[in-house]
Amino acid sequence: MNEYTLNDYVQDMEELLADNPDMPHIIEEGSKYVSKLVSNPAILNDILTKLVLDDQFLKSQYQAIDPNDIIIYRSPNRLFSLRAFIWEPRVHYPIHDHGSWGLVGVYLNPIRERKYQLRTNGAAPSTQIELKSDQLLQPGQVTVVLPLDQGIHQMENPGESVAISLHTYGAAIRKGYIQYYEPHFNTVRRAYPPTTFTRALAIRTLGSIAQPWSEEILKEASESHLPDYLKEECLMALNKQP
Ligand SMILES: [Fe+2]
Repeated sequence: MNEYTLNDYVQDMEELLADNPDMPHIIEEGSKYVSKLVSNPAILNDILTKLVLDDQFLKSQYQAIDPNDIIIYRSPNRLFSLRAFIWEPRVHYPIHDHGSWGLVGVYLNPIRERKYQLRTNGAAPSTQIELKSDQLLQPGQVTVVLPLDQGIHQMENPGESVAISLHTYGAAIRKGYIQYYEPHFNTVRRAYPPTTFTRALAIRTLGSIAQPWSEEILKEASESHLPDYLKEECLMALNKQP
């Protein structure tokens, strides 16, 4: 039997998404492709060879929010990306949301996934989350995340050996960041890739300095070429200035 290769998967997904199908259709059809992809044991060799021996592959990685997130393929039309996530045992990964839909296939060793939902609090926006499901997913199984507060979850490796899952994400409806939820403190915070996060930290610092010069930098930045999510950081920082 011919194995279903990375190339087969990429072609199938490109074709599926080219006609701009609705999300239920993407999830139904895409999940079938993911489940075929994660049943091919040869992909592991490919990915790990590139990561350990191929300098160019490592250098071509763009900055992800999570350091355990490895980009394997990016659709030229930005329809989707395929990533491998490497999960170390006994590492605590945060509860988070996503900017897009996602199809997640467990590839190597079981992975535990807890899904959460926002607790409804009348009409007021809530930061409180409650557990919706808690599952141990076996290699070959596929789980789905939806955008924004419809797809809050946490993944971790409950075993003693490293685990890997293969994730496909669609085009983001909210770009630039995800949100980390901390239920013990009832807080939500934005998580950015490292360089962007450094910039956001500097912007937040300016927001806590009550000086004309700090306000001036924030105003200039909020009208600059920066992406919208960093301009929002500038406006939030300006609002915080005493
Ligand atoms: Fe996720």
